[in-house]
Amino acid sequence: MILITGATGHFGRATIDFLLKKNIPPNNIVGMVRHIEKAGDLKTKGISLRVGDYDDYSGLLSAFKGIDRLLLISGSDIMNRSKQQENAVKAAKEAGVKHIIYTSFVRKNETETSPLAMLGKAHIETEKNIKASGLTYTILLDNLYADILPMFMGEKVLETGIFLPAGDGKASFATRLDMAEAAANILTSEGHENKEYILSNDTNYSFNDVATLLSEISGKQVPYISPSTEVFTETLSKAGVPMEAIAMTVGFCEAINQGEFFTTKSDLGYLLGRKPTSIKEYLKSVYLNK
Ligand SMILES: NC(=O)c1ccc[n+]([C@@H]2O[C@H](COP(=O)([O-])OP(=O)(O)OC[C@H]3O[C@@H](n4cnc5c(N)ncnc54)[C@H](OP(=O)(O)O)[C@@H]3O)[C@@H](O)[C@H]2O)c1
Repeated sequence: MILITGATGHFGRATIDFLLKKNIPPNNIVGMVRHIEKAGDLKTKGISLRVGDYDDYSGLLSAFKGIDRLLLISGSDIMNRSKQQENAVKAAKEAGVKHIIYTSFVRKNETETSPLAMLGKAHIETEKNIKASGLTYTILLDNLYADILPMFMGEKVLETGIFLPAGDGKASFATRLDMAEAAANILTSEGHENKEYILSNDTNYSFNDVATLLSEISGKQVPYISPSTEVFTETLSKAGVPMEAIAMTVGFCEAINQGEFFTTKSDLGYLLGRKPTSIKEYLKSVYLNK
């Protein structure tokens, strides 16, 4: 029996769909959800549902009973997810889960000097907890989702150009769908015990490269401007963007600029049995009909 946490989120839903495509019977798949009313589509597909919240240890323990393979999808509550995911790992161990797969993140700088120190803390601690638990594990070191590009660049990027303080830094963005497919493949095959996989694309891209791709796709000249952090912050706050969102974007852009997501090794193609979706293909799917 396979359980996917965060089953009503993007990664969880996509992983479940890939499991179904691989003809895993829906009654062998359990989706753990916080709000059952958000899971109507999963129920229609025949997926078993269990309610669980990373904050509620005893609920997690019940949800994880009888589960062989557990995909623990990292939570979205940045301030509290360290403790939440510690609960999940402990509950998995106590419930007798045989194999835990965790969606972590790829990084180089694990110190407080990292622009993503706060965001990365829970991932680093969860990896440590998993390894200390004695559970059989697979750690997915996810690069940045390509799916965050439209979020960061803005809806009108083809008209406005890219305005982000990421300098010439490059990242090996890969699609969330590819990462979910890789997770589904791991959940349904052998040989992934106590392994760490880097889920990156084959090529690293700067925002200048992304601007070039957008220009090719749209036939418009899409420029990339990399302002200083100060100018970026001032410009966006004047445009009414909340400070929290600006700070998060700045953190990611600084990390990209420092090469945190530049990778020369990736296991994604190996796990998929094909080349990962290129960023040009991904951007075409988003922008070609705009
Ligand atoms: N690599 C990257 O670029 C990148 C980018 C964004 C996020 N991430 C990480 O990857 C994760 C999965 O991505 P995604 O796109 O699927 O995010 P998402 O759509 O926001 O899904 C997050 C899932 O986590 C669940 N969740 C949050 N807090 C929980 C709790 N306390 N107990 C149980 N479940 C909880 C949510 O439940 P509800 O459905 O009830 O809200 C949701 O299903 C994110 O949560 C984040 O940690 C990575």
